[in-house]
Amino acid sequence: MSVDLNQTNIDIDDPNFKHIFTHLQGNILKSHGRDHSRHLFIKFKDNAENSRKWVKAFADKITSTLEQENQSTDFKKNGNNHLFINLMLSRSGYQALAVDKSQWPTDKAFLAGMKELSQEYDTTPRLDEKRQHHHPKANPLNDNLSDWEPPFKSTIDGLIILAYGRQPSVDFAIADAAAEQYLDKQVDQLSCELEAVADIITVQHGHVMRNDQGQVIEHFGFVDGVSNPKFLFSDLQEDFENGGFNHYDPSASLHTVMVKDPGGDVSSYGSYVVYRKLQQNIKGFWDRLALLAGTINEVSGNSEPINAEYAGALCVGRFKDGTPISEQATNGWTNLFNNFNYDDDINGLRCPIHSHVRKTNPRNDTLRQFNAPPTIERSRRIVRRGISYGSTDLLPEDEWTDAGLLFLSLQANIEQQFIFMQNTWCNNNNFLKKDTGLDPLVGVPTPKTKPAAQTWPKKWGSNDLTGNPPVTFEFSGFVKNRGGEYFFMPSINFLKQL
Ligand code: HEM
Repeated sequence: MSVDLNQTNIDIDDPNFKHIFTHLQGNILKSHGRDHSRHLFIKFKDNAENSRKWVKAFADKITSTLEQENQSTDFKKNGNNHLFINLMLSRSGYQALAVDKSQWPTDKAFLAGMKELSQEYDTTPRLDEKRQHHHPKANPLNDNLSDWEPPFKSTIDGLIILAYGRQPSVDFAIADAAAEQYLDKQVDQLSCELEAVADIITVQHGHVMRNDQGQVIEHFGFVDGVSNPKFLFSDLQEDFENGGFNHYDPSASLHTVMVKDPGGDVSSYGSYVVYRKLQQNIKGFWDRLALLAGTINEVSGNSEPINAEYAGALCVGRFKDGTPISEQATNGWTNLFNNFNYDDDINGLRCPIHSHVRKTNPRNDTLRQFNAPPTIERSRRIVRRGISYGSTDLLPEDEWTDAGLLFLSLQANIEQQFIFMQNTWCNNNNFLKKDTGLDPLVGVPTPKTKPAAQTWPKKWGSNDLTGNPPVTFEFSGFVKNRGGEYFFMPSINFLKQL
């Protein structure tokens, strides 16, 4: 049975969705929630029939949306841990499996492939919302392929995610080590199984990092994974209790993330996946933040000087503990919530308009600036399911250590959601306004454009942005893409009938 994808606030037990959620892979509508994962990038060998047979059998092991929910209940009630599994295919994967073209997903960026799209530099970032109907353009992400790790430069047909949590009521360090060991064993087993049908191109190891409060953080030390589009009643209920929705509504209709799977039947849906290995230069970031704080203090002559951590909050748009900087300026950052917008901060005097969370979710800024309908701005949203990789040292002595984010986003349209966000918002000096500058966290200029210096508020909320003199300081370049691919996460019933 097909359903109306305009719906949101879905009860996971809704009988109308039972069929769909039996075949829809997990981790799409709700995060799988495990702290440890392995990402196996594979390339099928030449025999399409053998490969199809293997995928068909493996489909039985993939965790569906419903199964994920059952596992979660079992974990909460009985403490039983379950292995979580996703499988996704790239365009070359569909080709290698000799799937009939009528069954291929149709997204243009998916069909082009990430490295193919990244091959050529383009020098004209799109300036505003009005020019959004273009075809995928050459290198919209401003990737530099010479930075890519060799495995990502080769053909990748598919990605298998294995994820496992730590056992409850055991010492954390012991439980983490046990989960890692368990996953290593699973990878070994799967490698043997795959030997006849596919080569493993690379295995990426993901692990969640947490702060003293147990909140998930990324390598710069900021709480991550706070604001995401929500689809399920249970998730929305949680957000409602954690601040309400009167300033920002996190609900999203299913068509933000789900599309019909052309390979399946009426109850088959899937989602497009953007995968990017993003290395973080932690030492470089914090050294530059100290310089930024020093510059703001020097120009403003503030009686209460700001520190690097505050400068970091100006870059991210949230403090390390997750508190939105648009909401609070003094110490005692205890709120962690998502019910805010920038209506009282139009000029970015509290939260700079170039900050990461404001560039990636402008919360009405495009309505004010371009008269763009709020539904369009909200339709750009992506579902983030990334996980950190590498060393857990948050204060390394060297720059560019082996540490970063295995960024993974889900969406219904790669070009209109992820690419638009990265290209037209983060990488664009002129979004939201002329000379706003890049997103200080993830903005990348084209080789021919220089990042414009961003303008920083001298003091929280102070109406002195362009004052005499303004604080201008260029901040970018501490996140580097090391490779990635576009995938489709098909319905399980499509895979089962291969
Ligand atoms: C939010 C860090 C890459 C899109 C955030 C937050 C942090 C963060 C700390 C705030 C907490 C939250 O709301 O979850 C990072 C780091 C990255 C990275 C360290 C790279 C290493 C990206 C990329 C994109 C992106 C490449 C897309 C182009 C978003 C979005 C939000 C967000 C959409 C939520 C904004 C909101 O709804 O308010 N990120 N991020 N991030 N990030 Fe990133």
